[in-house]
Amino acid sequence: MQKEVVVSGIRPTGFLHLGNYFGAMRNYVRMQNDYDCYFFVANWHSLTTHPDTKELKNSVHRVIAENIACGLDPEKVALYVQSDVPEIAELYLYLNMLSYKGELEKTATFKDKVRLQPENVNAGLLTYPVLMAADVIIQRAVKVPVGKDQEQHLEMARNFAERFNHRYGEVLPLPYAFNYGDELIKIMSLDGNGKMSKSENQLATIFLADDNDSIRKKIMKAKTDGGPAEPNSTKPDYIQNLFTLMKQVSTTDTLQKFEADFNASSTGNCIIRYGDMKKQLAEDMVQFIDPIREKAADIQNNQELLHKLIKMGAEKARMRASETLKIVREAIGLNY
Ligand code: TYM
Repeated sequence: MQKEVVVSGIRPTGFLHLGNYFGAMRNYVRMQNDYDCYFFVANWHSLTTHPDTKELKNSVHRVIAENIACGLDPEKVALYVQSDVPEIAELYLYLNMLSYKGELEKTATFKDKVRLQPENVNAGLLTYPVLMAADVIIQRAVKVPVGKDQEQHLEMARNFAERFNHRYGEVLPLPYAFNYGDELIKIMSLDGNGKMSKSENQLATIFLADDNDSIRKKIMKAKTDGGPAEPNSTKPDYIQNLFTLMKQVSTTDTLQKFEADFNASSTGNCIIRYGDMKKQLAEDMVQFIDPIREKAADIQNNQELLHKLIKMGAEKARMRASETLKIVREAIGLNY
């Protein structure tokens, strides 16, 4: 039986963090045995916000190295760099004709970026979701493992594919955002302000390249409060975030103990000790990140290996991409 096709990408705009790992990379690793997987570094996308390319090569190499260090096997999946697959750019051109200025301007991430970089509202930024749709559709993917923040982009990709099919014939499968379990994941910043991200408060972001002391310090500074007012309270989002992280890296017993302490706590009877919880979480996080950091550094220092793997990934990715372009060109009638 043919395996379902999966695509996902990561921008090389900085160091990868726990949001990238738990929102996306962990699923990549789980999916690699059961699906036909295409994972890539979205370096074209990074040019929409980071025109200075001094650090770009290093960052691309780091993303590849960190993905492998997290357990991705470049022999099993296609692990490649977006700009090595020129077929994506041609499909992007066709999809641009099917996307409208109004809907692109309404995209949440576009509005955010306009606010953040009013001096550089370039056309690439506006058509960011179109390029992303091209990344996915070029491999005719049906599942796209991403975090919650990418949900709207995936809806748009599906719309573009539907419009293409409507206009030129049913040739493209429709892609869906994917996570094991029901919901897409959002890891919050440890200061409780919005999502964990590559560019915002670095002291509240845990990077896969952080040393053990930084990990401990950042977790010990994470936002908490005086504890719940009543037993079995709903957790504030910054507390829930600590439990979410604990669920990922600690044992079930540890998680259950702190859950029980939280649920039994109330004003005047605070059983949960956030200081202890953070200390435990910090140690478990160190155990989790330490081997990833060391392995990623080894791979990143091996330029020859990286070069070989990137070339192999591009070849695999271009095989299916060129098949798709053939289908697309024929459907449009660009076959002379
Ligand atoms: P990027 O580089 O911002 O993030 C890479 C992946 O990490 C997820 N993620 C998070 N998940 C949970 N909590 C967070 N705090 C968090 N921060 C990041 C993202 O959802 C993403 O899955 N536009 C994409 C890159 C891209 C792409 C694609 C993805 C380009 N083309 C095609 C899928 C398919 C982006 O900027 O991801």
